[in-house]
Amino acid sequence: MKALVYQGPGQKDWIEKDKPGIEKPTDVIVKVTKTTICGTDLHILKGDVPAVTPGRTLGHEGVGVVEAVGDAVANFKPGDPVLISCVTSCGKCPNCKRQLYAHCDDGGWILGHLIDGTQAEYVRIPHGDNSLYPIPEGADEEALVMLSDIMPTGLEIGVQYGRVKPGDTVAIVGAGPVGMSVLLTAQFYSPGRIVMIDMDPARLELAKQFGATDTLQVGSVDVVEEIMKMTGGLGVDVAIEAVGVPATFDTCQKIVSAGGSIANVGVHGKSVELHIEELWIKNINISMGLVSTNTTPMLLKTLNSGKVDPARLVTHRLKLDEIMEAYEIFGNAAREKAMKIILTA
Ligand SMILES: NC(=O)c1ccc[n+]([C@@H]2O[C@H](COP(=O)([O-])OP(=O)(O)OC[C@H]3O[C@@H](n4cnc5c(N)ncnc54)[C@H](O)[C@@H]3O)[C@@H](O)[C@H]2O)c1
Ligand SMILES: [Zn+2]
Ligand SMILES: [Zn+2]
Repeated sequence: MKALVYQGPGQKDWIEKDKPGIEKPTDVIVKVTKTTICGTDLHILKGDVPAVTPGRTLGHEGVGVVEAVGDAVANFKPGDPVLISCVTSCGKCPNCKRQLYAHCDDGGWILGHLIDGTQAEYVRIPHGDNSLYPIPEGADEEALVMLSDIMPTGLEIGVQYGRVKPGDTVAIVGAGPVGMSVLLTAQFYSPGRIVMIDMDPARLELAKQFGATDTLQVGSVDVVEEIMKMTGGLGVDVAIEAVGVPATFDTCQKIVSAGGSIANVGVHGKSVELHIEELWIKNINISMGLVSTNTTPMLLKTLNSGKVDPARLVTHRLKLDEIMEAYEIFGNAAREKAMKIILTA
């Protein structure tokens, strides 16, 4: 089969590789029908995630059809259409029992990281019973690919950890696929105002179409000053960081109101300066974490009922064997006006 393989920092190849087989009785082999590229894959290619070693197949998002199941798999059989979660979970260990799948004893984010991932014709999914979801008949598969990672990330780590409530003023720093997922899922809770902040005017325009009430372009306005003007000097109830650099975390510290929350979603490679000397007196909450995808069943219901349409995040469609070109497009997202790219086998 063909797979997109990490070959060390800055290097990747679409090469022939052995098709995965059942290794443990709880494994499911999935024939990938649609997958996509994540900002995290670009981090890996830069060499920011040293746990990924040369030879690893990348990718942790997608949908497919069950090809084979191990003897212990109860919920799936060959031919079943499935949604692949970016997080693998056994469902039985202490952390899985409290829905903290990100910290499963025998799972967590391993796909396209510690084991071969979904940017391939076939993928092995450990603990298939708990790490795959059945796809309802007639579901929009492109929308479902957004449920592998970015939608649960936005909802769990941005909106739920940030405690977004009806009427709140919410600021989202970073209008990438993850920030946009925060924007879409924040609307479940009816915030009063959602301010999207980014330097890319095209992404800000898209954010308006997706429900942002206001946008602020970094570089052309003083973001902190504008937020203070908008909120009568109070700041925002919830500041959500969806970039992963010190400057954006700092913006969140400056714009959060007394009693508010900072929810950090971005993956950081550098330490940030925490201004506890200013924040201690403000009664704020700071949260961060890795997505658990425990909200996937809920997101599937909202998708089925038409409450949310994450397929709107798809800007490009290519064939799976055009994945090298897709990486070029995704790696130049601002120039290409790219958000999510669907790769179809
Ligand atoms: N916590 C988790 O479980 C989890 C899961 C998935 C992704 N992530 C992380 O979420 C972050 C966002 O992911 P993404 O795929 O949307 O990334 P992305 O790179 O596609 O988007 C980031 C956006 O931030 C904007 N940006 C960059 N610098 C900025 C600045 N100084 N001020 C304002 N905007 C700025 C960019 O223009 C871009 O639109 C990444 O760090 C990613 O690794 C975290
Ligand atoms: Zn991802
Ligand atoms: Zn577990």
